[in-house]
Amino acid sequence: MDFYHICFFLFYFFVKPTSPQLLINVKNQGGDVMQENITANVSEDTVTLEFLRLDGVYVSQLVDFTNEVEAMKVVIPGEEELGQFGYQTLCFLSHAAQADFIAPDAMAKLRQKNPGTVRVAEEDKGWRQSTATAWGGRAVRLLSAAAARHCAAARDRVYLRAADLARWPPRPGLDPSSPGSAVTPFPEHALTSDSSDGKPAVPPCLTETDSSKECICHLELCVNWYPCGLKYCKGKPQGGLSYRCGIKTCRRCHRQQYYVRRRDVCYSHT
Ligand SMILES: *[C@@H]1O[C@H](CO)[C@@H](O)[C@H](O)[C@H]1NC(C)=O
Ligand SMILES: *[C@@H]1O[C@H](CO)[C@@H](O)[C@H](O)[C@H]1NC(C)=O
Repeated sequence: MDFYHICFFLFYFFVKPTSPQLLINVKNQGGDVMQENITANVSEDTVTLEFLRLDGVYVSQLVDFTNEVEAMKVVIPGEEELGQFGYQTLCFLSHAAQADFIAPDAMAKLRQKNPGTVRVAEEDKGWRQSTATAWGGRAVRLLSAAAARHCAAARDRVYLRAADLARWPPRPGLDPSSPGSAVTPFPEHALTSDSSDGKPAVPPCLTETDSSKECICHLELCVNWYPCGLKYCKGKPQGGLSYRCGIKTCRRCHRQQYYVRRRDVCYSHT
């Protein structure tokens, strides 16, 4: 596909980033079109991408660049025939791979040439598997005030990998060598995958038949389109120098695993 059919331009010198919000029509792999809303907050140094899936699941991904924190919020409607009512809000915190999302200042200056166009990402980054090992607890606020606000509705359903704590720059009050003081690790038996009979100590929720038993819940979601890099052009407008003239776009899917104390609180049936 030719770049000019993707048709994004960065008007670096003309657009004042006053209302930095983009509504993008995106085609998913099933061929359905959904709308993504991407908002940059330059003063907070964050980008938020949100969309509503056709099955009613709402996804909102926040990237906090200053603090290198990514917070994936998911709101899942319950299935009444499984005894689940209302909505459940979950949040998954991870270390933000800086290179993967373009920065808020560039994001804020991005405008679409043809806003109605249905877009497909140029590059498929495949699946990213992530196994949470702890509840976020007090660490969430210490890691990122923006993520803490973003995840407020998830309350105690904020999950992370304790190993990620060592990847973040040190925070006052957060000692990576004893993460137990700020996060609440899952029970020991839920973290070890092999027991004497070779079966995982805690089964996946899909195979657990007793709704009051603990299990490992799985959640799959795809961000079908996001700006994952800048493109550089050489040309006359800038006197032959290379300049930022567009964006590279990507698609990425996430498979999240996390421990639940009862199967009936596992709302994601994937
Ligand atoms: C897009 O997201 C922003 C920030 O969350 C929100 O204020 C705005 O109402 C959203 N717009 C649409 C059309 O969803
Ligand atoms: C950006 O974030 C700051 C700090 O949270 C907030 O006060 C401000 O309203 C946000 N700006 C926009 C445009 O959302």
